[in-house]
Amino acid sequence: MPIAPHGGDLVDRFLTGAALETAQAKVQDLPRITVSDFTAFDIDGIAKGIVSPLCGFMNEEQTRSVLDHMLLRPGVVWTIPILLPASQEDADRLEVGSEVAIEDDRGDIVAILHLSEKFSIEKKELAEKVYRTTDEAHPGVARVYAHGPVYLAGDIDVLKAREVEHQEYNLPPAQTRQRFEENGWKRIVAFQTRNPVHRAHEYLTKTALEICDGLLIHPLMGTTKSDDIPGDVRMDCYNVLIENYYAKDRTMLSIMPVNMYYAGPREAVMHAIYRQNYGCTHFIVGRDHAGVGNYYGTYDAHHIFDEIEEGGLAITPLFFEHSFFCKACGNMASIKTCPHDKENHVFLSGTKVREMLDNGQEPPPEFSRPEVAQVLIKWATAAK
Ligand code: ADX
Repeated sequence: MPIAPHGGDLVDRFLTGAALETAQAKVQDLPRITVSDFTAFDIDGIAKGIVSPLCGFMNEEQTRSVLDHMLLRPGVVWTIPILLPASQEDADRLEVGSEVAIEDDRGDIVAILHLSEKFSIEKKELAEKVYRTTDEAHPGVARVYAHGPVYLAGDIDVLKAREVEHQEYNLPPAQTRQRFEENGWKRIVAFQTRNPVHRAHEYLTKTALEICDGLLIHPLMGTTKSDDIPGDVRMDCYNVLIENYYAKDRTMLSIMPVNMYYAGPREAVMHAIYRQNYGCTHFIVGRDHAGVGNYYGTYDAHHIFDEIEEGGLAITPLFFEHSFFCKACGNMASIKTCPHDKENHVFLSGTKVREMLDNGQEPPPEFSRPEVAQVLIKWATAAK
């Protein structure tokens, strides 16, 4: 039996056939709100069941439960509220109980909201509980402060899927599950990533694959912060790495069109939930997963899995310690498996790597496969 979607059935909120035609005929006459690309990705994720069992945007009770107890409802773990922010003016002109047309950042009417509630949450509290900081230099916190101040709750019906770059890799949960079945994979490990792939990533994924049937390399491709490496460059890196170093019949590359929150531990749990909905049974959590700056401890994203309600997640997290190439071992290793001193470990900070690439200098092969380094150098030097 494939792993069950989180909290029950896989949600599908796309309208089809006659229901779609009826919706298309009436949307022009409904009150309308315009949303950001961030919310447009949320809508797409709800429609496709990536955030099952959610059928829409959270209400106050759900939000409070998520913030205070890390539960969507009893027995269903959830760590980051999925909210629809609105201006006070928009909120004032919309009536609870009515239908609202949602226009996305591209000018398309993509969904109908069945408005069930309008509410507010103190932003500092939201920031502190989700991000563990109220510092507006944190990219997630800055977004919260720029929101709202009102949140609109309610189920949505979706008229249109969001097309993204690399659309050919944009396989929704239902089709991903089908692909796993066709491949005969029962134990599938997912790898979340938003950075260009390096040797430690390769080590984690291959080590995990040793105990699974298949590997899903699943880069996040929703909104990210502006200084993250662009999606097309990352895709070129994954492709060149898989081409040269991975067993093709055990590895699948597709993208996950979900926003990045940079919420560290709480986001690690959400990353696992999304992957459970995609049909994965195992999920890799390494060092400082989904972290940014110095806001989180190296293994906070491991510890949170001990704090969530027992039995609240069906997917199994696989925890990895800080990994690197060790010159004395002559191998990739981690602080758990390597007995040698730090001097033997090849580890480069993100800033250092960026500096090398900008100077057209290849990071050492112990850190990055040369094929990947070439893709990155080409991008870094062209961008100058
Ligand atoms: S993340 O924002 O998606 O976490 P990134 O793409 O860098 O960023 O990391 C992908 C996954 O690899 C995460 O689980 C992260 O914890 C893990 N990871 C990255 N580098 C290392 C490393 N050197 N050692 C162990 N785990 C790592």
